[in-house]
Amino acid sequence: MKIAVSGKGGVGKTFIAGTLASIAAGKGHRVIAIDADSSPNLALTLGLTPDEAHHLLPIAKNTRLINKKTKTDYPGVYNLTFTVQDIIEKYALATPAGVHLMVMGTVTSMGSGCTCQANALVRNLLRHLIVKQDDDVILDLEAGVEHLGRGTADHVDLLLIISDANSKSLGTAKKIHDLAEGFGPKNVYLVGNQIEGEEEEDLVAQFAEDHGITLIGCIPFDEAVRRAGVRGEVISPDSGEKAVKAVRILYDTIIEDMHSGKKGDIA
Ligand SMILES: Nc1ncnc2c1ncn2[C@@H]1O[C@H](COP(=O)(O)OP(=O)(O)OP(=O)(O)O)[C@@H](O)[C@H]1O
Ligand SMILES: [Mg+2]
Repeated sequence: MKIAVSGKGGVGKTFIAGTLASIAAGKGHRVIAIDADSSPNLALTLGLTPDEAHHLLPIAKNTRLINKKTKTDYPGVYNLTFTVQDIIEKYALATPAGVHLMVMGTVTSMGSGCTCQANALVRNLLRHLIVKQDDDVILDLEAGVEHLGRGTADHVDLLLIISDANSKSLGTAKKIHDLAEGFGPKNVYLVGNQIEGEEEEDLVAQFAEDHGITLIGCIPFDEAVRRAGVRGEVISPDSGEKAVKAVRILYDTIIEDMHSGKKGDIA
């Protein structure tokens, strides 16, 4: 299954993407995580050191991968389909979490720091990636709505929109939802995160109902997760922390939902 994780800045995209990926790997799945944020930090959530993270070769600079091109010679338009196993063996880095990581990176043209080409590479990679049963690809997107315009997540099965109870985060979530409805993935769900108490949970649920968005889960605010973020520590997917337990429930709900037969062609 290919899952993209989106939302406003700081709502917990990387925490949720990384934890979902680690949980899937713990269940014996082959998992590729793609950090599609131009300021990547998923590596640390998956247990790499800052030095190891620094030395990751971005997709945008991986000429071996980029050169898998069509007869038209258009770089990054792959003529081969890749399997998850190909990517794991040749292009991704194994992390202590058991997840195989790729980083999108940026392509600077004329010093502008434009990420369009890098996004196009990820889009094409996802499009040509064959995902079998027990394979998962998890995409940690950059904050905001721009990735939708670039089509980075066009070829995923599921788009998760993360939001806390803040009205600005919910506003961004609605924008992402509305844009994705037009041309994005078929299955788009809201996930509440950093939710404190029933009142906030109800508020997020009401927002979802009012705007016709499906809420698939709520992750509570968890002091242990906040502290780990401050200290740069990794939270194990097996830890009993309440936010991690809630992400486990989210993972099971997603699997159940996607395999319910109603949601189209999912591996
Ligand atoms: N459920 C939670 N409870 C407490 N703290 C959380 C929770 N989820 C995430 N955090 C903390 O919030 C901070 C931001 O999380 P994270 O980096 O995952 O957000 P993000 O959406 O990926 O941010 P960015 O937009 O900068 O990429 C981190 O310090 C993280 O540890
Ligand atoms: Mg992030």
